[in-house]
Amino acid sequence: MPAIRFDSIKLDKLLKEEYSRYIGQALEDCAGLNDLNRYAGEFETEFSRYLRAKFCVVLDSGTSSLQLALLASGIGKNDAVIIPAISHPATAWAVESLGAKVIFADISQSDLTIDPDKIEAAMRKDVKAIIAVHLYGMVCDMASINRIAKRHRLKVIEDACHSLGSTLNGRKTGTLGDCGIFSFAYFKTLSSIKGSGGCLVSQNTAYKSNTGKILASKYRNNVEFKDPSFLDIMILLKKIKFMAKIEESKINIQNNYFGLLRKAAGLTLLKPLTGSRPMLMLYPLLAKNRDLLNKRLATSGVLCAPAYKPLYYMFGESKPDKRSFPVAERYFREALFLPAFPFMKSDEVSYIAGVIGKALRP
Ligand SMILES: Cc1ncc(COP(=O)(O)O)c(C=O)c1O
Repeated sequence: MPAIRFDSIKLDKLLKEEYSRYIGQALEDCAGLNDLNRYAGEFETEFSRYLRAKFCVVLDSGTSSLQLALLASGIGKNDAVIIPAISHPATAWAVESLGAKVIFADISQSDLTIDPDKIEAAMRKDVKAIIAVHLYGMVCDMASINRIAKRHRLKVIEDACHSLGSTLNGRKTGTLGDCGIFSFAYFKTLSSIKGSGGCLVSQNTAYKSNTGKILASKYRNNVEFKDPSFLDIMILLKKIKFMAKIEESKINIQNNYFGLLRKAAGLTLLKPLTGSRPMLMLYPLLAKNRDLLNKRLATSGVLCAPAYKPLYYMFGESKPDKRSFPVAERYFREALFLPAFPFMKSDEVSYIAGVIGKALRP
């Protein structure tokens, strides 16, 4: 079996003829900058249609989309934002880059997303927003999070960078809070080739006018908001047409992994929130001997993504007491991420499950 790793380039290779025809025709039709910029508008329309969102604005990264979401939510110096103890560092960095403080809440054991009970426990007077990260595509308990936010008059920003296509009661993540953000980086379900691009979506027209005002000045609170590149947009416009096929393929991969691994002793599979349909970026699970499994998988040609370091080691006002984050600590010790890229073959999934089964055998 050749090496198996998360590889967006495979999908780009499949689509290369389509890309070159499409980009060639667009260049033929364009007379100048305004024509080129038209495609960003087309992508915003397509992306909104896919999510059933009322509004979308595309930028050059998920990080700047998150900065825009925070500014458009009125977050600034001396405000605090509750975020999960585990996420990509950009989630915390975006908050601190605006002079606001991050407050961490532990994640839940069943699905690794922010635990609503821990949000309540972390509440303070200066908190103005919660960032709900749909980690790896698992869906946060949005009903509880929105209820807490309403009680404390907070904004809810969904960091949906990992969860394009995940749904809760039929509605797509990114459209379940006040606003949502996405990244089109290399490992994401919808990625541009080099991996730049991101966007903000909202169902709320106030966000349309707030983001419009912020972007009109381009530079705001030390942030420079950049447009995405023409080539990235063209790739994304082509690829988004394949989302139904990507979803179908991902659901098959997830079901295959679940069927093959659910009885394996020593593994804890995640339990999706009732009513949710996760569209996983990677297939996450917990394993007591995670390091051994990672080694065995690597020597068998399967390259798995590493776990995120808990954010409280790198961000925040004070030195953390890691005893306050038992689930994040368990995640850091035990989380294993199996490849789950679009159009991965079922024999690749079986091969990976076989390597794990063999390694776990006493
Ligand atoms: C959860 C999460 N939030 C934010 C980001 C930042 O996105 P970008 O790399 O496009 O700036 C990422 C990127 O991987 C991410 O995984």
